[in-house]
Amino acid sequence: DSSEATAEPEPEPAEVPVLTRHWGEPQSWTLPNYLRHNGYRGLRTALGMAPDEVIELVKASGLRGRGGAGFPVGMKWSFIPQSDDPHAPPHYLVVNADESEPGTCKDMPLMLADPHSLVEGAIIAAYAIRARHAFIYLRGEVVGVLQRLRAAVDEAYAAGYLGENILGSGVDVELLVHAGAGAYICGEETALLDSLEGRRGQPRLRPPFPAVAGLYASPTVVNNVESIASVPAILRNGIDWFRAMGTEKSPGFTLYSLSGHVRNPGQYEAPLGITLRELLTRAGGVRPGHTLKFWTPGGSSTPMFTAGHLDVPLDYEGVGAAGSMLGTKALQIFDETTCVVRAVLRWTRFYAHESCGKCTPCREGTYWLVQQLRRIESGQLTEPEIVAALDVLADVTDGVVGKSFCALGDGAGSPITSSLAHFRDEYLAHARTGHGPGGCPLDPAAA
Ligand code: NAI
Ligand code: SF4
Repeated sequence: DSSEATAEPEPEPAEVPVLTRHWGEPQSWTLPNYLRHNGYRGLRTALGMAPDEVIELVKASGLRGRGGAGFPVGMKWSFIPQSDDPHAPPHYLVVNADESEPGTCKDMPLMLADPHSLVEGAIIAAYAIRARHAFIYLRGEVVGVLQRLRAAVDEAYAAGYLGENILGSGVDVELLVHAGAGAYICGEETALLDSLEGRRGQPRLRPPFPAVAGLYASPTVVNNVESIASVPAILRNGIDWFRAMGTEKSPGFTLYSLSGHVRNPGQYEAPLGITLRELLTRAGGVRPGHTLKFWTPGGSSTPMFTAGHLDVPLDYEGVGAAGSMLGTKALQIFDETTCVVRAVLRWTRFYAHESCGKCTPCREGTYWLVQQLRRIESGQLTEPEIVAALDVLADVTDGVVGKSFCALGDGAGSPITSSLAHFRDEYLAHARTGHGPGGCPLDPAAA
């Protein structure tokens, strides 16, 4: 059956899973399956409202951006001018599906398992901000995701959810899936826009933010995949339903990605504010016979936590108060066998490789951070050189963080400053011996 259910639907419970509820079903990504579960009902609700009303509803829901920064989604939409002036510049919606933060792996499974929630959310968002054209900017390497997204978009066009006069409403929305070429920096929203326009992806100066001058210098909303895919359920069920989950300032449900030394890695959907201790219980704990050493709350760009942070509420306020950032909710788990110096060196090499080169602090600084970490990691320094090397490492990090043009430079400094704060003794021991804890799975040759 490929038609929408006509009977009044059962009220949905205000509990997780929401985003992941149907991921395990056969052919979960197809339109018939999506329609069996109230698919595109949120769009019908939205089309029955004025665009401003949709924005107000999303604003009142308290939905915050799931790409990392947690900026309120409805507020971002409200920055777009609500004028019907035919001579005003067009508005655009751009979905950021570049997902490249180390450890972050939630948007790709979402798009594979349930692409229509993203397509429906994008149509609702485009309607709300009066954009006729919407784009999904996907990282280029994920060919399987690209095919699945394009198939879902084709299904939506064929069923009348996209194109001219969608569902007879008089509203036109075109949705294009664009594949990038695979550069971390193209996940930065303004570099993404440059790339989408056909230029080399490098960050632009902000302000102006994309809401003022974005794609083709026109008002543009850039939202993360998970943010947009969360919108249809809010339209279907309302503000109170959404706010019944999560915390007051970080309401709703979200995807936490557990990876590394955990018994059952994967996506765990939970209300915001859950702790790692609770998530680890669901994930079967750290791998048998081992103990937690350090972890990232939101990918490698967020300052690392230790076993002492197991009860930090994983919402924007809780993680912030504990000295890090919720970021992409990519919880990378490392047990006691991991050499923190080598782990940090691996991440820093990533940032140096992905630095776009536009600004000197990041382009030169990330290179020197790698050199300095390699010296420490090698175990070939004399005692006075060791202390000096740690000072130089901290000094160069200070020259990058807060002085770079975009968030990549700040992110590159996070693993270094946080690991030095928690594991300075291990740095010293490693510099003296050239070894971390026994059984470190990171190959020294790779460093
Ligand atoms: P940001 O805080 O500068 O901006 C967040 C959003 O709010 C942007 O869309 C921005 O345009 C908008 N915004 C902020 N102030 C505004 C204003 N005054 N007027 C209009 N719009 C405004 O954060 P940024 O630099 O965009 O992203 C940093 C985050 O990205 C980090 O928290 C990090 O966790 C995350 N990240 C995610 C990755 C992924 O793979 N998902 C990769 C790397 C970083
Ligand atoms: Fe490019 Fe790094 Fe500067 Fe960002 S901080 S603009 S990635 S060189």
